[in-house]
Amino acid sequence: MQSSDIRKAFLDFFASKGHQIVPSSSLVPENDPTLLFTNAGMNQFKDVFLGAEKRTYSRATSSQRCVRAGGKHNDLENVGYTARHHTFFEMLGNFSFGDYFKRDAIFFAWEFLTQVMQLPAEKLWITVHISDDEAADIWQKEVGVSPERFSRLDEDNFWQMGDTGPCGPSSEIFYDHGADVPGGPPGSENDDLDRYIEIWNLVFMQYERQASGELMPLPKPSVDTGMGLERISAIMQGVHTNYEIDLFQALIKAAAKACAVNDLQHKSLRVIADHIRSCAFLVSDGVIPSNEGRGYVLRRIVRRAIRHGHKLGQKGLFFADLVPALVEQMGQAYPELNQKQAQIEKVLRTEEEQFSKTLDKGMKILEEQLAKLNSAVIPGDLVFKLHDTFGFPVDLTNDIARERDLTIDITAYETLMAAQRAGAAGNQFQLDYTKTLTLEGKTDFKGYDTLEARSEIIALVIDGEQQKIATAGQKLSVVLEATPFYANSGGQVGDTGYLRVGDACFEVHDCRKAGDHFLHIGVLQAGTLTVGDLALAQVDAHVRAATALNHSATHLVHAALRKVLGEHVSQKGSLVDSQRLRFDFAHFEAMTTAQIAEVEAMVNAQIRANTEVKTDLCTMDEAKAKGAMALFGEKYGDSVRVLTMGADEFSMELCGGIHAQRTGDIGLFKIVSEAGTAAGVRRIEAVTGEQALQVINNTAALMANIASQMKASPEQLAEKLSVLMQQNKELLKEVGGLKAKLAGFAAAEWVAEAVEVNGIKVLAKRVEGLDANAQLDAVDQLKNKLGAAVVLLVNVDGDKASVIAGVTKAESKKYKAGDLMREFAQKTGGKGGGRPDMARGACPVNTLLDEALAQVVDWVASR
Ligand code: SER
Repeated sequence: MQSSDIRKAFLDFFASKGHQIVPSSSLVPENDPTLLFTNAGMNQFKDVFLGAEKRTYSRATSSQRCVRAGGKHNDLENVGYTARHHTFFEMLGNFSFGDYFKRDAIFFAWEFLTQVMQLPAEKLWITVHISDDEAADIWQKEVGVSPERFSRLDEDNFWQMGDTGPCGPSSEIFYDHGADVPGGPPGSENDDLDRYIEIWNLVFMQYERQASGELMPLPKPSVDTGMGLERISAIMQGVHTNYEIDLFQALIKAAAKACAVNDLQHKSLRVIADHIRSCAFLVSDGVIPSNEGRGYVLRRIVRRAIRHGHKLGQKGLFFADLVPALVEQMGQAYPELNQKQAQIEKVLRTEEEQFSKTLDKGMKILEEQLAKLNSAVIPGDLVFKLHDTFGFPVDLTNDIARERDLTIDITAYETLMAAQRAGAAGNQFQLDYTKTLTLEGKTDFKGYDTLEARSEIIALVIDGEQQKIATAGQKLSVVLEATPFYANSGGQVGDTGYLRVGDACFEVHDCRKAGDHFLHIGVLQAGTLTVGDLALAQVDAHVRAATALNHSATHLVHAALRKVLGEHVSQKGSLVDSQRLRFDFAHFEAMTTAQIAEVEAMVNAQIRANTEVKTDLCTMDEAKAKGAMALFGEKYGDSVRVLTMGADEFSMELCGGIHAQRTGDIGLFKIVSEAGTAAGVRRIEAVTGEQALQVINNTAALMANIASQMKASPEQLAEKLSVLMQQNKELLKEVGGLKAKLAGFAAAEWVAEAVEVNGIKVLAKRVEGLDANAQLDAVDQLKNKLGAAVVLLVNVDGDKASVIAGVTKAESKKYKAGDLMREFAQKTGGKGGGRPDMARGACPVNTLLDEALAQVVDWVASR
């Protein structure tokens, strides 16, 4: 049975049991800072388990793409060493949100395995948590699992997603791959070998783990199950390792071809086949290799794959070439892979090119050091150097160490890393607005409809402490029950303005969110503020209006970029304030002038179309159905706000920000710069409205100024400039000729200064004002005029001098100009050298120079 058939059979089975089929979520979890990557099917339902989010269904099923590299569940280091660990895998799951519990979960799993998949019951082993009598009874008494194939474990039967979050006791189902595979049953000494493989984990979600470690009961007991698609496929395809299943074989063959390897069993091919899956999917979900966070994990995986290619003898580029084979295998189940293929190849290729440059050198250093090593531990400073100089992530060095039965001194390495970080972080300062703010409820935002509102002050936060009263001169944050002030989010800065109570005047410099409340941050200019006062909140309308124009223009730019550059363009960040807008997006090369002009023209055309900016509230599903763009890493509630603007729905995006009423309000749009910020990320800065006009006026004023200096009209400037440049070139040539002539005249005069030594003429002279060509000309002319001669001409320019020595051909066998120059340089503290007939050098100007000049005659005499 093909993996794709198993995936489908699973989803169909649970759909037939009343489960909603839910698509896999992104590998980048939505707004969940506790999680690096999606690592289980339940992640997208975390808030549903916790009771903080409601869905229209209480049973769900999915096939979820997962990455377990970095973070709590990290399998990176095991990849290549076991039959069943991967950085990327697919998790088949069924979920109950306060609907069914242990009995149904167990019976569903048993029915699917023994009836749909038709696995023999005697091949299946079961474990439950030591405390869980209920699950034990269901398995033994109701399902009838034999006690020989049943055990109760502690930690292994308790699952939690991270250090905090939903968790509970679990029951695991194992498959026995048979006596010819080494390994012991679950809970025994050798259970980490490959005979008994855990295929399905049924988690009975009952608690939420608090940051303190305490377990709080969940509102409703729920179920979260997860079965590895690759593991069940191995069983159904009658093989003992995941790498032998259909999904992997195609990739292993592609890797073998790309690396020109015949041995399909080679462990490094497995590593590469695994890594191309995680890397390609991570890029497709918007992750880009970088030096921190998710990007760094991706970088580590790519580099590990490249190192394994290198080990196979592939010193060239190969990794990105595997993407087409992956797309062929998985593109149908995950259409985003097809859509983003070109982008994925480009990102991986760039990273590969970058690392290939240093890999060889790093490996050489490592090999040299390992040859000298007389212990089984690679020292921390070497690990650090490999990281710092050659870009070897620590787990790559560890991987190499493991292959050679060595370990690394991780403590020493981490100490060096911490010291480096401390150095780099010295100047950083972060504000913690949320410190000690404990308030009920949430701030009611009125700012979409009004710029002014009266509301009660519910808190005053001074130096991180909540106070009852604030007095003039104090810097503080004010929390109101309701406010027209927009709080910094979605790239748009917070509003500025005033809060007034009678004569008291609080100047708001910024507004930010702290949980569900808005903090108005600023200075109390006059009077006092007291909790309970009714304040008049007034947003600075001018600043707000300019900011809104920039925000709307950002949406138009985003849409225009996708039309001009392609659908791979995705937003990587933005900053919108009253002065300008900044938009960061994924794209792999600098935009051409023509592309920039096209984007600018497209946005301005939409501005002139002057269509109404429409705001709709709808469900996420409706928004998706309309084709609205949503951003990675943003959390959207049940009801989302869709902003549509431009003719023919030119741009449609989910957004909570403040916008213009009609596109025409933007007035004018002008891009002021386009540049790269990180690998694969470009940044556009632009201005709108008054600022755009200002930029254009400034440019025009500059042109007018230049034109008047050049005595031309702006239209004639380009032509006039090229005429001037041509003239300049000709003048320089003429000056060069004149200088050479002058040098000739001068040389004619200097001839008389030559002295005769050993029957040849010697001239060593200090002059000024020659350029390099004239100096050379002068030396040549002196040689000609003197017949048989040794000439050394020093041209002084400020405190430096350039030196040319020349010797006539016949004499240059005995009196070598290069030797003379070296000796001269040595005496003067300069440097130089050259051929027997001509040599050049440079030296400082000081008294040594004159002494050395006088000694040239002695040098000739002594030969
Ligand atoms: N969350 C559990 C796991 O990841 C079951 O889905 O194993």
